[in-house]
Amino acid sequence: MITIPVPLGTRAYDVRIGVIEPDDAAAMLAAAMGKPSGVAVLVDGNVGRISPRVAPLLAALGARLPNVNVRRYDLPPGEACKNLAEIQRTAEWMAAQGFDRGAVVLAIGGGATSDHAGFVASIYLRGIPFAICATTLLAMVDASVGGKTGVDLDAGKNLVGSFHQPRAVLADLGFLATLPARERVAGLAEVVKCGLIADAPLLERLEAEAESLAKDSDTTALATIIAAAVQVKADVVTEDERESGRRAILNFGHTVGHALEAESNYELLHGEAIALGMMAALSLGGTQGVTPPELRARTGRLLARLGLPVDFERRLSPAVVGRIDVDKKRRGEAVRFVFVGTPGTAELRDIPLAEARRLLAAPAVA
Ligand SMILES: NC(=O)c1ccc[n+]([C@@H]2O[C@H](COP(=O)([O-])OP(=O)(O)OC[C@H]3O[C@@H](n4cnc5c(N)ncnc54)[C@H](O)[C@@H]3O)[C@@H](O)[C@H]2O)c1
Ligand SMILES: [Zn+2]
Repeated sequence: MITIPVPLGTRAYDVRIGVIEPDDAAAMLAAAMGKPSGVAVLVDGNVGRISPRVAPLLAALGARLPNVNVRRYDLPPGEACKNLAEIQRTAEWMAAQGFDRGAVVLAIGGGATSDHAGFVASIYLRGIPFAICATTLLAMVDASVGGKTGVDLDAGKNLVGSFHQPRAVLADLGFLATLPARERVAGLAEVVKCGLIADAPLLERLEAEAESLAKDSDTTALATIIAAAVQVKADVVTEDERESGRRAILNFGHTVGHALEAESNYELLHGEAIALGMMAALSLGGTQGVTPPELRARTGRLLARLGLPVDFERRLSPAVVGRIDVDKKRRGEAVRFVFVGTPGTAELRDIPLAEARRLLAAPAVA
């Protein structure tokens, strides 16, 4: 097992990565929870239905916390739990169970579940602690670290939320056995991102093992690359917990990625959209003299070997380019882009909105 600390002072916590047996997982969670009066276990509906790891984990947790009110509530699967109506439903359930200020929330699921669980924990009785058992690769490498929580509005994704750091994060690779291959591959896009913006050796490791990482063979190799990605996110978040500056480099590929994701009506998975968005950002970086063409070609080869889409050119419809306008990274009339020149380094640059749109629509970028 690999432990990556997230050293945020009084809000510090550890991310544990490996195949973690239920009793060990329960021991770690119980230690992080202290002496809770109750545990509200919020489980992704699909995970609760199909994963053989949920019941043993809950049994072990119950055994570690005798006389504690450990109750399970299965959420609508995936993004369906990320709205205010479901937050109300969960909070009402918690109140009906008698959870008081000494209770904690435990999320078992992907990023949608941890965003929901973290948000409800941050507002229930004005805030109680929470912990995460991540069950998707994306949640392990990205969503469970950093303390951003929240839900969607009809007006857009993640528009309501809070910062609330978890007390503990478990990335038990055993959960990945039931994860659909497409979801697994999508999670790898964020790992490529971490390599590009902050960890050149990680990029090389991905290149050395692309095909096996995309399948399921070697959990040791997978644990190593998850740990490297978590380390990148932990470093950046530690430096800039509330995204006033450097944390923005984590948005590499996300400006165009979010536009593609939304315009596809979320048929593209987040990681797939980010793969395309990173290719667009590398191309745009080329027009700014930041990104050498070789880096774009190299990244395209890696993403394709992992099974991710790279053909962003044909997808940059006027509607997609128009959506860049409503991106939350827009500042005044300029769009803040993250560019990568040398692998492992990132820089932020503001590009006037009109110019960004013109460049993205121009065949030169394609
Ligand atoms: N808070 C953050 O910093 C942050 C960062 C990145 C993404 N996010 C959020 O995370 C969400 C995406 O997370 P995700 O990619 O983990 O998707 P998800 O949580 O929506 O899960 C994807 C699908 O996989 C299923 N699933 C989850 N674990 C499974 C398992 N082990 N076996 C079988 N099926 C499983 C879910 O039911 C769902 O259908 C988005 O809402 C995004 O906004 C948050
Ligand atoms: Zn992302």
